[in-house]
Amino acid sequence: MSDKPTHALPSYLDAEHLGPWGIYLQQVDRVTPYLGPLARWVETLKRPKRALIVDVPIELDNGSIAHFEGYRVQHNTSRGPGKGGVRFHQDVTLSEVMALAAWMSVKNAAVNLPYGGAKGGIRVDPRVLSQSELERMTRRYTSEIGVIIGPSKDIPAPDVNTNAQTMAWMMDTYSMNEGATATGVVTGKPIALGGSLGRVEATGRGVFVTACEAARDRNVDVSTARVIVQGFGNVGGTAARLFHETGAKVIAVQDHTGTVYNPAGLDVHKLLSHVSQKGGVGGFSAAEALDNAQFWELETEFLIPAALEGQINEANAGKVRAKIVVEGANGPTTPIADDILRENGVYVVPDVLANAGGVTVSYFEWVQDFSSFFWSEEEINNRLERLMREAYAAVSQMAKEHNVTLRTAAFIVACTRILQARQVRGLYP
Ligand SMILES: NC(=O)c1ccc[n+]([C@@H]2O[C@H](COP(=O)([O-])OP(=O)(O)OC[C@H]3O[C@@H](n4cnc5c(N)ncnc54)[C@H](O)[C@@H]3O)[C@@H](O)[C@H]2O)c1
Repeated sequence: MSDKPTHALPSYLDAEHLGPWGIYLQQVDRVTPYLGPLARWVETLKRPKRALIVDVPIELDNGSIAHFEGYRVQHNTSRGPGKGGVRFHQDVTLSEVMALAAWMSVKNAAVNLPYGGAKGGIRVDPRVLSQSELERMTRRYTSEIGVIIGPSKDIPAPDVNTNAQTMAWMMDTYSMNEGATATGVVTGKPIALGGSLGRVEATGRGVFVTACEAARDRNVDVSTARVIVQGFGNVGGTAARLFHETGAKVIAVQDHTGTVYNPAGLDVHKLLSHVSQKGGVGGFSAAEALDNAQFWELETEFLIPAALEGQINEANAGKVRAKIVVEGANGPTTPIADDILRENGVYVVPDVLANAGGVTVSYFEWVQDFSSFFWSEEEINNRLERLMREAYAAVSQMAKEHNVTLRTAAFIVACTRILQARQVRGLYP
């Protein structure tokens, strides 16, 4: 008999190619021995509560009709309504959206926000669409998933390739269908629509705050540290800027256009304006171009993966020479890579903790929308920092208690909260 854990896989996934959902299942297996009697409920975590697949047809500007595959997955709603972003990417799959939704359940519970976990996506490269095609696609998608979202049911937010404008279209479409303005249906909205100050920067700020906490634990001085960042969008760009402003040296940045490197430290402000003009870091003159594979091997205090999943894997994990990895992206490290990093003494601050700043300020936005009373940016940043520090402390304490990685510790904290809620609610009927 195989000693591999067995999962009752849904028939709609290919067992041989489980993708990100397979990674998530392995993470659940690692936490199960620490759940005590709550382990009785663990199967709840191994299947999404609800997965909606929708067809999104739109008329293109040239008069032809295009169809896109859209998803909204609600992984768990035991602790509150679903919450999680919407991703527009050509490689989006059901497995990926399921895993991202599950990581949202864990993340929201790890930082103790009163939410379950959800995620959505459309399988499309938005760069090939015009602005009006993008708007039509977003609106049709919102209308299709409208049956399961809502301010007290499931609240989408931006993710890869979606932004405040996307959220404005989603909010408007939902409100039109409902016949009432519903600002609380999405977060990450423009300020003019009930968005929150500080939301745009919140994820990158949270990454920076947890990095500083980890640095204290590992005796690293942030103000003289070297930093390398993969992904220079909302998360990576903000985190890099905050490190830079503290005096740290951001020595390499990689995005979809290549890797730029300057051992003396990149001018992050100039790099940000280069990216806003050129669409990527490639061609930045005050740096040398580096082979993408070499990026992972650079000696550095901090490595911040802030792009896509599976970037630190069996192939490159052994070459990582960072002291601390702070996961800005969701799911950037595979379980095998996690083991390799641990063996090599690399300290990993997991995604479910490190990048929770975005959903935390999304929560603040949702609370502000409900009360129609808005806080100052300073108030928001202070509350964010306090919440992230407390979450880091609780997870790091758990890691020490059980002698496990921060990831397993974050899963213990989170899964215990989710399953406690499941247990006291009981099974319906
Ligand atoms: N935006 C948020 O609030 C938020 C919150 C939590 C987690 N995240 C996660 O952070 C990650 C980045 O999200 P974002 O909002 O910054 O997205 P973004 O679209 O603003 O930026 C994505 C960045 O990744 C880069 N990238 C894409 N493909 C790449 C590749 N193959 N190799 C190297 N770089 C590549 C892009 O060039 C870009 O710089 C995602 O995993 C997302 O799920 C985002």
